[in-house]
Amino acid sequence: MDYRTIIEPFRIHAVEPIRMTTRQERLRAIEAAGWNLFGLHADDVLIDLLTDSGTGAMSRDQWAAMQHGDESYAGSPSWFIFLEAVHGLFPYRHVIPTHQGRAAERILFTAIGGPGKVVPNNTHFDTTRANVEATGATAVDCVIPEGRVPSLRHPFKGNMDLDLLDRTIRVAGPGNVPVVFVTVTNNSGGGQPVSMANIRGVRAVCDRHGIPLFLDACRFAENAWFIREREDGFASTPIVDIVREMASCADGMTMSAKKDGLANIGGWLAMDDDGLAERCRNLLILTEGFPTYGGLAGRDLEAIAQGLREVVHEDYLRYRIRSTAYLGDAVAAAGVPAVVPTGGHAVYLDARALLPHIPPLAYPGQSLAVALYVEGGIRGCEIGTVMFGAQPDGTEEPAAMDLVRLAIPRRTYTQSHIDYTIEVVLRVAEHAADLRGYRIVEAPAQLRHFTARFEPLG
Ligand code: F0G
Repeated sequence: MDYRTIIEPFRIHAVEPIRMTTRQERLRAIEAAGWNLFGLHADDVLIDLLTDSGTGAMSRDQWAAMQHGDESYAGSPSWFIFLEAVHGLFPYRHVIPTHQGRAAERILFTAIGGPGKVVPNNTHFDTTRANVEATGATAVDCVIPEGRVPSLRHPFKGNMDLDLLDRTIRVAGPGNVPVVFVTVTNNSGGGQPVSMANIRGVRAVCDRHGIPLFLDACRFAENAWFIREREDGFASTPIVDIVREMASCADGMTMSAKKDGLANIGGWLAMDDDGLAERCRNLLILTEGFPTYGGLAGRDLEAIAQGLREVVHEDYLRYRIRSTAYLGDAVAAAGVPAVVPTGGHAVYLDARALLPHIPPLAYPGQSLAVALYVEGGIRGCEIGTVMFGAQPDGTEEPAAMDLVRLAIPRRTYTQSHIDYTIEVVLRVAEHAADLRGYRIVEAPAQLRHFTARFEPLG
């Protein structure tokens, strides 16, 4: 089948209303929210592309699985169904359920982080970086140089720069590097995939220094699809086998089931190391819960288990990756600067390139994100200097890039929603020269992008 139209491989079974709003209403709403899109009432959003995390539609079979949820405190049958589904893809000895990905991160870095420690990653996601730094450790991004240039094409732009990784470990001293992380796909770098060859290369560097390798596996299925499409030798390998091979290169993983678990909540931490697992379980009990439910209800464990079975379906992944590219290709074809090629879960507009008259410290990404909302009710997310510019010592520096991410919730919007989104992006881009920068008038010490309040400049 080589038709141009991408058919969603599902029919709609229950619908949620979208409330139409006017430009005036949206202006009032965003001003009241301190020009921060996280502060909006979601009813005031038409197309919500803030995140692909926990915002997807669950399938009929996932809702049915939830009815099967068993809420026993210890040893629930739902736990064993969850464990079997996780082990089908990631056969690590220890699987520790958590309420979402960042809880897994917090537990792991509390166990192995601390002052003087250094954690390399291709690119840390914001919560991952914050959890590393909260222990006093240093988070270092080692993505390949191509991964930092939005307009440069590379099939695996999320790859780790192996020489930089090696140097980072030598400078820190291998004894100070408790773990190396590979994030698949590389969310903060544009949802870009990491090749199997690169994961194997990272493994080799880790082996040379005796350091464990963990995957931040949030979007593992999307990464596996890209490996199959783009890497020599995988064209006819089943997705499940590619996922297992990725897993076999690592010693453990953190996971947010809100992404490729196709669930609205959940996550886990997994590893082979018995001693580390015991320390992590002790931390789990302090804040998340007993080791057979983590922070989750039995029904959540069931929804995740079914989601893991569905996410590796080829029809689903083909639609998922093609439909994201549909938005990215349309925007790029119209000359709007964006990260190319399009990643798995989102389109990343290059606000720094689109708004050269707004310096990074006046937050071009924030300006573009607000404009998309005011113009068309589209809520994207700044991934740039607002999110990453605050330094641990209280100063501020431009982030590597100033992007606006339009993240696509899984199985939620149709092609007409995306066509509308394309129209809005193009209209805002036509008037880019009129957009102004912002300044922050109020911000917390950490993860400021969630709650900061802004003021338009000029
Ligand atoms: N790692 C990556 C690569 C992520 O993208 C996220 C979440 C996490 C870890 C944390 O997982 O949200 O379950 O605690 N990313 C979401 C996003 C929030 O919008 O990209 P979580």
